[in-house]
Amino acid sequence: MDKFIIKGGTPLKGTIPISGSKNAALPVMAAALLADSPTTIHAVPRLRDIYTFNNVIRITGARVDFHEDKNKLVIDPKHVSHLEAPYDLVRKMRASFYMLGALLGRFGHAKVSLPGGCAWGPRPVDLHLKGLKAFGADINLDEGYVLADAPDGELDGGTFELDPSSVGATVNLLLATVRSSNTSVIKNAAKEPDVVQLCRILTKMGAQIEGIGTRTLTIHGVDKLKGIEVQNSPDRIETGTFMIAGAMHPESNITLTQTDPEDLGKFLDIFKEVGVELEVNDDTIRVVAPDKLQPVSVKTQVYPGFPTDLQAQWSTMMTQAEGKSKVTDTIYFDRFSYVPELVRLGADMEVKKNTVHIKGKTPLKGASLMSTDLRASVSLVLASMVAKGQSEVLRVYHLDRGYENLENKLTRVGAQIKRVDNDQ
Ligand code: EPU
Repeated sequence: MDKFIIKGGTPLKGTIPISGSKNAALPVMAAALLADSPTTIHAVPRLRDIYTFNNVIRITGARVDFHEDKNKLVIDPKHVSHLEAPYDLVRKMRASFYMLGALLGRFGHAKVSLPGGCAWGPRPVDLHLKGLKAFGADINLDEGYVLADAPDGELDGGTFELDPSSVGATVNLLLATVRSSNTSVIKNAAKEPDVVQLCRILTKMGAQIEGIGTRTLTIHGVDKLKGIEVQNSPDRIETGTFMIAGAMHPESNITLTQTDPEDLGKFLDIFKEVGVELEVNDDTIRVVAPDKLQPVSVKTQVYPGFPTDLQAQWSTMMTQAEGKSKVTDTIYFDRFSYVPELVRLGADMEVKKNTVHIKGKTPLKGASLMSTDLRASVSLVLASMVAKGQSEVLRVYHLDRGYENLENKLTRVGAQIKRVDNDQ
């Protein structure tokens, strides 16, 4: 198991290219199974979650060729015959549950393992199942698997309202319905950029979807979808993570390239409040750190609100702001496993219910730290980069699920991070 050894205290200066988005690529990969011909996706990041999903797709009989040197993924759905996603793979990555919508939507049947718990508490899939039932699917649970059937080979359609709004459920319902011959309406649909990208790509494949980018999606089913060649969007969470990294040391000055500032929603304006100098262009963002960071309290919300996937990184930055702040997660109430680790570095933070109360600025001093999930793990790296002395971040396999080349990107702009095999 790899770990990072990080020497803190160096500013970041230079340019960091942003990779393609993991969470935007996964639904498109599932959508490729709905077509009758191969789909090519460019800017797919080389990440553990992508490799896992490639294997989930391969099990069905589809051909998956990942040209890693070019970040190009080709999925040929011609020979899909095994309509199942097994527990061994689904438990590694919850998004494998997208196979439910894709297989049901294309073949009228799917057997997909329930994902189970997650590192920071329960993450239900009840809305995925209720939505599919509302659209006419027979859903049965058997030995940890969901067995889904469309009685006459395709779903009847209808209307279903998501409460709360859910990215995953919106994706699954879209996948399940675009190829039926009926009309389905998803209310309170997610409008995260990942969902918007999926809708646009499905449309290019031949789907008919009204209301893209709004809370109501109306899907008029079509007979056929064709495979196409598409460009995946830049990773907005990686972008936000590096913006935070660039703000945390008073001498840092970095430029993020190949990104899409529009996908950041309200995060961009909230970020300005910490006192950074920000230069935003079409596909670049320059961050010049302030001498002193201002404390800014935030609450996570669905898009375009502050993303839960940047909550841990924001709290980490707030440990270095001059004053008190509060960070509340309204999407996931328990996503604070990184807090005790930051306290071990010297941060003054306390979790009460779904809010972390932070008193800054506290000097941080290097220590050994344990990663517990993807965003927690990157937050420990952010903290270690400004801590005095040396830190070790253990179990960085969490980080490898969602950040392509993280240590190389950061090392190139001045961070001192070394990956070592902890088992040696
Ligand atoms: N929810 C339910 N029932 C459901 C589904 C969701 O109650 O059936 C609740 C959840 O418990 C949560 C809220 O709805 O409180 C929103 O969850 P959502 O379904 O939108 O999350 P997700 O689709 O499982 C995706 C991202 C997550 C990200 C969330 C929120 C992917 C693969 N995952 O998860 O990303 O945190 O949306 O934006 O796109 C990450 O990248 O680190 C990550 C966890």
